Amino acid sequence: MSEHKAENKGKGIWALPGLRAFAPPAETPLEERVTNASEVVPWNLPGTQLRTKVSKAARGFYAPAGVGAPTSTRQAEILNTALIGPPTGTKGVVIGRDVLSRTSIAHDPVTAYNSTPREVSSPNTIVMGDVGSGKSSFVKTACVLRPLLLHNRRAVIFDKKDQAGEGEYSNVVRRYGYEPIRFTADGTGTRLNLMDPMIARGTGVKGQSRLLNIITRLGRGDQSLNEWEEEALRAALYDTVAQHEGGRTPVLADVLPNLGVVDPHRYASLSPEARDKLHQAGLSVRWTLNGLLDEYAGLLDGETSSEVDLTGKLTSFDISQLPDDGPAVPVVMAIGNMWMLGRLRTERGWATTVVYEEGWHMIGGPSAQLIKSNQKLSRGLGISNVFVMHKGTDIPRDSPGITIIQEAQSIHVFRQGRPEDAQWCQETFGFAPETAQTIEKLRDGHYIFKYGSHPETHVQHIRSQWEIDVTNTDEALAAAAGRE
Ligand SMILES: Nc1ncnc2c1ncn2[C@@H]1O[C@H](COP(=O)(O)OP(=O)(O)OP(=O)(O)O)[C@@H](O)[C@H]1O
Ligand SMILES: [Mg+2]
Repeated sequence: MSEHKAENKGKGIWALPGLRAFAPPAETPLEERVTNASEVVPWNLPGTQLRTKVSKAARGFYAPAGVGAPTSTRQAEILNTALIGPPTGTKGVVIGRDVLSRTSIAHDPVTAYNSTPREVSSPNTIVMGDVGSGKSSFVKTACVLRPLLLHNRRAVIFDKKDQAGEGEYSNVVRRYGYEPIRFTADGTGTRLNLMDPMIARGTGVKGQSRLLNIITRLGRGDQSLNEWEEEALRAALYDTVAQHEGGRTPVLADVLPNLGVVDPHRYASLSPEARDKLHQAGLSVRWTLNGLLDEYAGLLDGETSSEVDLTGKLTSFDISQLPDDGPAVPVVMAIGNMWMLGRLRTERGWATTVVYEEGWHMIGGPSAQLIKSNQKLSRGLGISNVFVMHKGTDIPRDSPGITIIQEAQSIHVFRQGRPEDAQWCQETFGFAPETAQTIEKLRDGHYIFKYGSHPETHVQHIRSQWEIDVTNTDEALAAAAGRE
């Protein structure tokens, strides 16, 4: 530039000794300016409009009519192109603050899905991050409590994590005026009657038959029933319902004696061998269900406990006290899912957020099948699933779990301290390469947020005081520290 200026100094009036010092810089020749044809350079842009009206100028309005930058975020993008996305707008609920621009970030998967044009193609959400990075605090507030304030919204939680002897969502649910439905394997918790019409609502005996089929399969470690067993189960169920017509609601124990009984009229055309095979198939189902009843006495035998209220805006299935292995967790989840689908079919017009805490535990186990079928139905029935999990690296690349993750459109990645976990998130969710490093160092309550095809944003989740009170999970440790 100084070269050009020097050249200029020798020309025209600027060559005069007094004026030389004030010579303007010379224009750079065009061929030197254009380094890359696709590059946007400022001197090609029109620039700020100058006022040309003589009348205005006469009144002193000489200054250019300033246009101003559309957003401050836009200017800040220059600092770090990867992490500043366009502001989210104000629809939905506030889910935190953009760390760089300090503007609030609002999002709600259901609102985004229902807006025109659609902002996300799926209402499902993934929340991922290391132990203690702030995932549950975020889900409790931004996915459960705050959206409940919106019109026709409710939430169902499968609460797997134990906190002081009960599920970690218990406080949240009580704060809202409901009582969690607590399950235990020792008979001290809630009892659910598989035959309760409330559970298979809207689908009648067919729905009950499907539920018993799933329960039997789960009771055998995810081994499907063969067609003989399915027929025997169906027949036993119809017989049980017929026997209790006009009387009390049948319970699972009423079905058991009918399993293995082959009605001579209904199966009159069968050969004695076929009848015997059906009899044996019925017995094999009976032994499985018997085993389940025996192991989880108090959970599945008898009438549904009277305190079970499945009609509120907030329902928590507290499965934190059930053993991790064995069929208890998947069985309760199957019943919960069945109840939920029944209720959604009969009460249209509501959007339901379903939270799967310790999500991978569930996506990976025998419940995966249920969640998958629930996924297919979710859009039609207004379900928005929230899967909370620790990391993605142990999900096999070709598993159904990956499909669930890839389909989700609202992504919240909390700290992933191990570089390979952070890398996995960056690749799977299509973040900018440098975001991987940011993920490794996120503080508690900070996350990378991405929805639809928008670029990701670094967000700080901010809780009000009472939200902090109901969401903190380290009370036990904090109390211990206080006693010292
Ligand atoms: N928004 C926040 N701001 C500051 N601190 C937070 C925030 N959210 C959570 N924390 C802190 O992190 C702790 C753990 O939070 P939380 O239980 O939500 O983590 P988590 O990721 O669900 O853990 P886990 O993997 O064990 O389930 C909280 O008790 C709180 O101290
Ligand atoms: Mg948690």
